[in-house]
Amino acid sequence: MTRVLVLYYSAYGHIETMANAVADGVREAGAEAVVKRVPELVPREIAEKSHFKLDQPAPVAEPSELADYDAVIVGAGTRFGTVASQMRNFWDQTGGLWAQGKLVGKVGAVFTSSATQHGGQESTILGFIPTLLHHGMVVVGLPYSFAGQTGMGEILGGSPYGASTITGGDGSRQPSAVELDGARFQGRHVATVAAKLKG
Ligand SMILES: Cc1cc2nc3c(=O)[nH]c(=O)nc-3n(C[C@H](O)[C@H](O)[C@H](O)COP(=O)(O)O)c2cc1C
Repeated sequence: MTRVLVLYYSAYGHIETMANAVADGVREAGAEAVVKRVPELVPREIAEKSHFKLDQPAPVAEPSELADYDAVIVGAGTRFGTVASQMRNFWDQTGGLWAQGKLVGKVGAVFTSSATQHGGQESTILGFIPTLLHHGMVVVGLPYSFAGQTGMGEILGGSPYGASTITGGDGSRQPSAVELDGARFQGRHVATVAAKLKG
C-alpha cells in the first residue's frame, strides 16, 4: 500500500484542519495517510500568551522517518512571506537522509496558509520546493483540474503550487469548503502519483 505522510506545523489550527483534509484525500485515493506535526520551537510562555493551539492530537514526527513513506506532503503557514521556521528546522535535520539519498524519487508537495490574500502564499510554497528538489523528490502541486482554484465569486486560497487557506488578520476565518476541497484534491493527487511511481 502506498504510504503518505502529511507533515505539518500549525500555531492556530488552520493548517491542522487543512492537513486532516489532505489526509482524507490521500485515503480517498486508496493510500495510507499518516498525519504528524513537527515540534514547536516557540517557548511555552510565549506560545500561551500568543494563544497558540497547543492541544493538537497528531504525534510529533522524527526526521529519520521521512524515509518510511512514498510521499511527504508538507503544510505550514507563512511567516513574513516564507515557511514557518519550525518546518525549516525539521528539514534542517535531514542532512543524513540527503547524504544517503533516502528521499530520491519520492513525491513531495506543499500546502500553506496566510493571514492575507497576498501575504505570501505562493512565495512560501515556491520557497520550500527547492528543499524537496535537493532531496531528489518529485514535486506535485495542485493542478488546474482542481477547478475550484479558479473561482472569482469569493475570497479563495489555492494555486497551481499547492492548496492554501486565508485566515484573516485576526485568524477568525476558517478554511472554506472550496479550500478544503483543494486540500483533499492535493492529497488524492499526490497519493495517485506516488502509487504510479511505486509501480
Ligand atoms: C511571526 C508571524 C509572521 C507572519 N507573517 C505573515 C505574512 O508574511 N503574511 C501573511 O499573510 N500572514 C502572516 N502571518 C500569519 C500566519 O501565516 C497565519 O497566522 C497562519 O497561516 C495561520 O495558520 P495556523 O493557524 O495553522 O498557524 C504571520 C504570523 C506570524 C505569527
